[in-house]
Amino acid sequence: MNDRIINENISISGYFLHTVNDKNRGLIMKIKSLSYIVIDSTDISLWETYARDVVGLMKNEEKSDENNLFLRMDESPFRFHVQKGDADRYNLGGFELSSKEDFDSAQKELAEAGIEFNSENDELAKQRCVEELISFTDPAGNRLELFYGRSVDQNAFQSSQEISAFVTHGLGLGHVVFGTLEVEAAHTFYTDVLGFGDSDIMRMKFSPDPNDPESVLYFMHCDNPRHHTVAMMQAPTPPSGLVHAMVEVETAEQVVDALDRAVANNVHISSTLGRHMNDKMFSFYMQTPAGFMLEFGYDGIQPDWDTFETTNSPAPSYWGHEFNMPEA
Ligand SMILES: [Fe+2]
Repeated sequence: MNDRIINENISISGYFLHTVNDKNRGLIMKIKSLSYIVIDSTDISLWETYARDVVGLMKNEEKSDENNLFLRMDESPFRFHVQKGDADRYNLGGFELSSKEDFDSAQKELAEAGIEFNSENDELAKQRCVEELISFTDPAGNRLELFYGRSVDQNAFQSSQEISAFVTHGLGLGHVVFGTLEVEAAHTFYTDVLGFGDSDIMRMKFSPDPNDPESVLYFMHCDNPRHHTVAMMQAPTPPSGLVHAMVEVETAEQVVDALDRAVANNVHISSTLGRHMNDKMFSFYMQTPAGFMLEFGYDGIQPDWDTFETTNSPAPSYWGHEFNMPEA
């Protein structure tokens, strides 16, 4: 795949800069946002309680049934779809393209890059509330969907908690962070095939052990101002399929209120409050019923990508974010 789309790999300061052969490929696709995620659950009732009493999401009563829980954050018909399954894990992410034209050219680009994809049927398009969609897998084994034409729910969004709004307008759901040992292949796929840009590239040790090799983390943005929509961490893929997802609210108080609700509902707090270095997010992390974490944040930066230069943050956070993972 890479032979055809990458002219050169130039090693500078230990990083690889990829120069894409635009002459042969035309424009690289522009993904507008992460629109929804799908989660498998052995007990949907756990998610219903967690979403309502802790996160502050709104259940889409009309779409939900005993095997499917659709959760809203805004005018979208859902941002989280929790479906009955035989495991508790992240299933896939749905990414939005702006138009039928972009959708058609994205399929052409995937085909030219040698990526196999499935055209999904009308029944699934209807469930996702989109016009058309395709699905495929990234080199780390993560399932993705690409679509265009998502409908808007006619009923106004109302959080189940005192949350004024989730910060999604023009930015999508939030972000997802994956762990994979195929981190270089995954990074190249997102930048050179899916058109993501590098926001921050971080290298860090996960333990004080001097023999512990550095791991790399790629934080990537798509075609909106959110600092990163997808990140790839060089680490074994967790059993839940995802390291964490992030949702953002409008005030620091609403983050602290969510932390209070998590404690009151005996949700495991995976990380203390802190301020990230790369996206400046003020946030804490908690466990979800699927086993991955949910970062609940405020104040993430929204760079202008025309003038932004990729950063290399020396550490994840300025302060806080002391992690305390639950016993396996
Ligand atoms: Fe995050």
